[in-house]
Amino acid sequence: MNILIKNGHLADPSQGIDGICDILIADGKIRELKSHETKGKGQKVSRNISGRKTEDAEMITFNAEGLLILAGLVDMHVHLREPGFEYKETIQTGTEAAIAGGITSVCCMPNTSPVNDNASITDFILKKADEAGFCDVFPVGAITKGQKGEELAEFGMMYEAGCIAFSDDGRPVMDSLIMRRALEYSKIFSVPVISHAEDLSLAAGGVMNEGLLSLKLGLRGIPAQAEEIMIARDIALAELTGGRLHIAHVSTRGSVELIRLAKIRGIADITAETCPHYFSITEDAVDGYNANAKVNPPLRRKEDVEAVKEGLSDGTLDVIATDHAPHHKDEKLGEFDLAPSGISGFETAIGLSMKLVDDGVLTLNQLIEKMALNPSKITGIQKGTLKPGADADVVILDAHNEYTVDPAKFRSKGTNTPFEGWKLSTRPVATIAKGRIYTWE
Ligand code: DOR
Repeated sequence: MNILIKNGHLADPSQGIDGICDILIADGKIRELKSHETKGKGQKVSRNISGRKTEDAEMITFNAEGLLILAGLVDMHVHLREPGFEYKETIQTGTEAAIAGGITSVCCMPNTSPVNDNASITDFILKKADEAGFCDVFPVGAITKGQKGEELAEFGMMYEAGCIAFSDDGRPVMDSLIMRRALEYSKIFSVPVISHAEDLSLAAGGVMNEGLLSLKLGLRGIPAQAEEIMIARDIALAELTGGRLHIAHVSTRGSVELIRLAKIRGIADITAETCPHYFSITEDAVDGYNANAKVNPPLRRKEDVEAVKEGLSDGTLDVIATDHAPHHKDEKLGEFDLAPSGISGFETAIGLSMKLVDDGVLTLNQLIEKMALNPSKITGIQKGTLKPGADADVVILDAHNEYTVDPAKFRSKGTNTPFEGWKLSTRPVATIAKGRIYTWE
């Protein structure tokens, strides 16, 4: 099937393109781009591709006038829950939800059951993803066996099987010597080690940000320092080893400052991500014991939200990832203390993130870098670009169509979102991945 997308506004920082273009997709690859040049005063000279048939295949034409066309989004931090927690999400439902969110590649964390700490689980995930057929799935292998933090997992075997990074996400690697070894291995395979930065002894079983609100609610708090201490340690270990460190889900002002300083000092290969919830809402969302706002690290204060935005704007934070963490409704309905942490993020990510562009925090090109190009570069996957010859992973966005977030309409099994009822103005009208086009009204 060939697809011709006409008259859309194509923005692709990988090629320095930002203007009206036609795109021809053939055999699952970007075949050709043609810009509509502007000559003189607003006079358009259109050099469309239409009329050129490729291999007599069926041609779908999509008129994208007034719409944005970007490389399919690359989400380097997601939880697909399979194997083991299929009641929360499956690879099928998770990847379908990703597509609905304009995300065409996902890197899935290993905290499944069994943990993805060996090549047979990696194989299983890739096979399931292939069967589902929605988007590309790139597994992240565990740093330690069973994510127990005691013994390094088989990096080499998992790398050979297709893992593109290593992480014990959901848990920190508390043992500094093991983290040192993991960073040393990261150099051999040239893959990032993704740090879930949380000092468990200081977090002390807390369930929300530590502060006046946790006091008022009578909930145990997690201080910002539980995150910052581990980021400081991991930066020190990256300096010691020269390894590739990527810091996951940054949530505090102090964390942003530590990473900024490490980058200024030019320490090895340090990159970092944050998630839409850390720049969109504060701990106030937890008030009323709203377990859909329970997430780890926890939502923080207004000044942290501002610092996260500054970090995105000045390049301290390279990536926006969802940390899509679906949980069953019943688990989130129980007592706040006992509810699992996590937010179902695929289907609100682009709407929340485009607010950064609307508010002047990021340019559109910076946003695309953080949601497609940089995660591809960090994980070494060949994605995040619309260059001719690249996989035809494309998202077509309507950036001016206000809608209300309704988790009942999510494709994900996880309806756990604190953004229910929010008005957002950007959402995909079409996603193209693996040679198929999905469209929504
Ligand atoms: O809130 C979170 N949920 N943070 C994590 O690090 C893990 C994730 C999960 O797996 O549910």
